[in-house]
Amino acid sequence: MTRTDQRDVVAAVAARAIDGFTSGYGEQPAGAWAAPGRVNLIGEHTDYNDGFVLPFALPQQTVVAVTPRPEPLWTVWSEQSGERIDLDLADVAEPGRVTGWGAYVAGVVWALRDAGFDVPGARLAIASDVPLGAGLSSSAALESAVLTALADLGGLDLPVDDRPALAQRAENVYAGMPCGIMDQSASIRCRDGHALFLDCRSLAVEQIPFDVDAAGLAVLVVDSRAPHRHVTGEYAARRAACEAAARALGVPALRDVPADGLDETLARLDDPVVRRRVRHVVTENRRVLETVALLRAGRVREIGPLLTASHASMRDDFEITVPEVDTAVEAALTAGAYGARMTGGGFGGCVLALIDANRSEPVTAAVKNAYTAQNFTTPHTFTATPSPGAHRHT
Ligand code: GLA
Repeated sequence: MTRTDQRDVVAAVAARAIDGFTSGYGEQPAGAWAAPGRVNLIGEHTDYNDGFVLPFALPQQTVVAVTPRPEPLWTVWSEQSGERIDLDLADVAEPGRVTGWGAYVAGVVWALRDAGFDVPGARLAIASDVPLGAGLSSSAALESAVLTALADLGGLDLPVDDRPALAQRAENVYAGMPCGIMDQSASIRCRDGHALFLDCRSLAVEQIPFDVDAAGLAVLVVDSRAPHRHVTGEYAARRAACEAAARALGVPALRDVPADGLDETLARLDDPVVRRRVRHVVTENRRVLETVALLRAGRVREIGPLLTASHASMRDDFEITVPEVDTAVEAALTAGAYGARMTGGGFGGCVLALIDANRSEPVTAAVKNAYTAQNFTTPHTFTATPSPGAHRHT
């Protein structure tokens, strides 16, 4: 996808949000703000361990058309659900009052108000191209679009670098999902043509050039369409195991466990399952750093084996993959991908494969054939170009 195509994709979603706004509220919106979904190139389940991640923003975006209003009320229409909801002060005073997609909007208003910001009331209309429930951070895209719009419209003194933590609070506290800070950081801080190297402890970022087109490569994304199985519970269990292991090892977070001498460190833990969880996090952090070093040196193709090793670690040590994603990874590798791995929280979701730009069709066909052979639902595929983070569209 070229830069022009990307802009066309966003313009099409924005047109739907603006049309929905105009027909629903009988006036033009004051503006439209866009925020993307993400894929994570590498660094999985490292964010809540104070470690490193390397996501990039997708061309698929969520757009919110907004007009402020004087009273503290937020009326929100969503194209995807076809619903229109009203949020009043009581809804945004206490986490959990609103459930479903509205929780992400109410959660952002709550988090901003809880941080002491004077959030303007508003009418909002939302349209999105970010696939729902596919592990591509559709909820972070929604939170980030709403937060960026309300911060801009209200003239809030809220630096961009501080915004992901507020969007994360909306998700953690209001919506009740104990995620780390990667997805909201990706949606807000990513840049066109770059992957975002984020230190989840210091929140320092470095924009790493990731121009796959120029390298003659492409990132193929396979939405496994595997039914999500107990995602929130399993995610919370992994997070709890990591935090317990850090306490047992006497470190603030697993980020502080050195990769050198890992076997001796692991020997201090009794439970073999916890040992595997720790090994995943420690080796995954090292793989992120190695990937960043290769990308800085322009050696894009060579990151392939690190991606594949990351997958093996998620499958065998962190135990968060499912047969559908393992099948997609194996089929892509057999069809010539340089590397492939599941991306996102796990238990379904998407796989990414680094391939030669002209190999998209045969690799896709190989994955689809492998799915047919196993009677899995046909996967969706697309190629992903690193795209801009949250911004004002019009
Ligand atoms: C989900 C969470 C993120 C991160 C990933 C796993 O996407 O929202 O915070 O933990 O899983 O890397």
